[in-house]
Amino acid sequence: MNTKKDIVQKIISDRVHAPKPFGLGHAKANIALVKYWGKRDNELNLPETNSFSITLPLGTTTNITLANNEDIVVLNGTKIENQDQFYTRLVLFLNYFRPDASTHFKVETTNEIPTSAGLASSASGFAALTLALDSFFSMNLDQKMLSILSRLGSGSASRSIFTGFVEWQKGSNKDGSDSFAEKFSHFWPELRIGLSIISSAKKSIDSRKAMDITRKTSSLWKSWPDQVTHDITQIKKAIIEKDFELFGSTAEHNALAMHATMIAASPTILYWLPESIQMMHRIWDARKKGIPVYFTMDAGPNLKLLFLEKDKSIIEQEFPTIQTLVPPQ
Ligand code: PMV
Repeated sequence: MNTKKDIVQKIISDRVHAPKPFGLGHAKANIALVKYWGKRDNELNLPETNSFSITLPLGTTTNITLANNEDIVVLNGTKIENQDQFYTRLVLFLNYFRPDASTHFKVETTNEIPTSAGLASSASGFAALTLALDSFFSMNLDQKMLSILSRLGSGSASRSIFTGFVEWQKGSNKDGSDSFAEKFSHFWPELRIGLSIISSAKKSIDSRKAMDITRKTSSLWKSWPDQVTHDITQIKKAIIEKDFELFGSTAEHNALAMHATMIAASPTILYWLPESIQMMHRIWDARKKGIPVYFTMDAGPNLKLLFLEKDKSIIEQEFPTIQTLVPPQ
């Protein structure tokens, strides 16, 4: 079996140089329009299907320096306790890169994503950490390798190495050497994302566990890979043709299909709160009134609205609590 450490060492071994005084990395968060849901390899975060995302303007900046006796992790200016899950997950990742047991790191990380935004920060977090390590050890890795390494921290982090629309190729190799993200050649400058925060509480069940239960028990799981293949083709067509109805309806339906696979799992996994469903109805009602607005949802209760700049004022009037983001190219 390939362990994460084996894979990382194979990629970096002849590229690592003496550490610089510091290594800085910055990466943006992303939202999947066609979701990654289900791993074919739990250790290496290898997905069952491709996925397709849009990168957000908010992200994570991480700085690495050497520390004396133990790893130190500072998040938004606050030192994180060694027992904290955030600390252990980060140190586990650092272990794959650590040249020897006596080398310790100080990792200072700042999230532009407000913790209350209900957005996952693991994607930009692991991508920024990978970029910081690449700089710290002057590895000069290309984006494909950076995407592979980020994936080992968190699957969706593989997509945060790029901006714009991004497709993560599932690949078929056992060691994951062909499972990395790539930037899609087209962009849609008028596209807007509206964050609708229903709750910023910690997830009821983490996505790794939820994917595993879905894969093992959901009767709807069988149809999911075909759904994804179909939706990726449709969403690319929609972007190329600037067909917003096709774009929005494909993304919305894909998110609902992903949640349907979880609802059909045993035990049922339901991330929605009553307010999430209320918001869905408000979006559908707005569409009935002729307002072109759609939504997507991840492993949590919050919705992300999809719309175009031309409809921004009417949508912000209809949904006054949303925060509108302009995705970078
Ligand atoms: O990267 P992870 O393990 O946090 O999983 C992300 C799963 C979803 O956000 C629900 C979908 C996606 O493609 O980002």
